[in-house]
Amino acid sequence: AEKAIPVICLDGPTASGKGTVAAALAQQLGYAFLDSGALYRITALAATRAGLALDTSGEAAIAALAQGLDIRFEGERVWLAGEDITTAIRTEEAGINASHVSSLPAVRTALVALQHSFRQLPGLVADGRDMGTVIFPDATLKVFLTASAQIRAQRRYDQLLAKGDSANMSDLLDDLQARDARDMSRSVAPLQPAQDALLLDSTSCTAAQAVQQVLGWWQQRQPFV
Ligand code: DC
Repeated sequence: AEKAIPVICLDGPTASGKGTVAAALAQQLGYAFLDSGALYRITALAATRAGLALDTSGEAAIAALAQGLDIRFEGERVWLAGEDITTAIRTEEAGINASHVSSLPAVRTALVALQHSFRQLPGLVADGRDMGTVIFPDATLKVFLTASAQIRAQRRYDQLLAKGDSANMSDLLDDLQARDARDMSRSVAPLQPAQDALLLDSTSCTAAQAVQQVLGWWQQRQPFV
């Protein structure tokens, strides 16, 4: 029965605009929303706080921790064991740490069931790296969102400044390219488009235009209209 619940997957590299596009789609369709990157960010935060090394030496302990996380999503806010960690997981460092824990196979396995639990009626929009390839291979629509590294670094820069954080363009571009390389080269669930994914390059379109494109594709997949 679960298989009958529609899923739209939005995968792609960091700062490609997936988060914005996926959240807007979920809102417009009245669907549930899975920000899978947040799960890796939360896991990394919990692991750091527990004093665990974010590499293979900490893998088993981090996986155990990931399996028992007390996470609650409430609109834009994220809670970990009763603490509002919304801003704590959105720093550049939190993203880099997330990228490290996400390369550990046992950690990825530990988060599978939690991700599947987001698949609820009337449907789900799932944002990540491996939504279409690993987590929801039977999804109704898979989109792979890309944009040039330059424009992604620029978007990240604007976001950080808007939050009042400081940022340096060339450091951001370096971090982003290192993160892309790590996410694409890992042995388990590397960042790559699913064979049946539709590619959407958002380098020169707005988030609103990207949402319209995905909605258009989505409507074409509806059997009853
Ligand atoms: O989308 P994001 O920047 O919040 O993701 C943070 C990190 O988590 C990213 O560098 C790679 C990892 N990630 C992953 O491996 N698989 C996912 N489905 C989502 C994120």
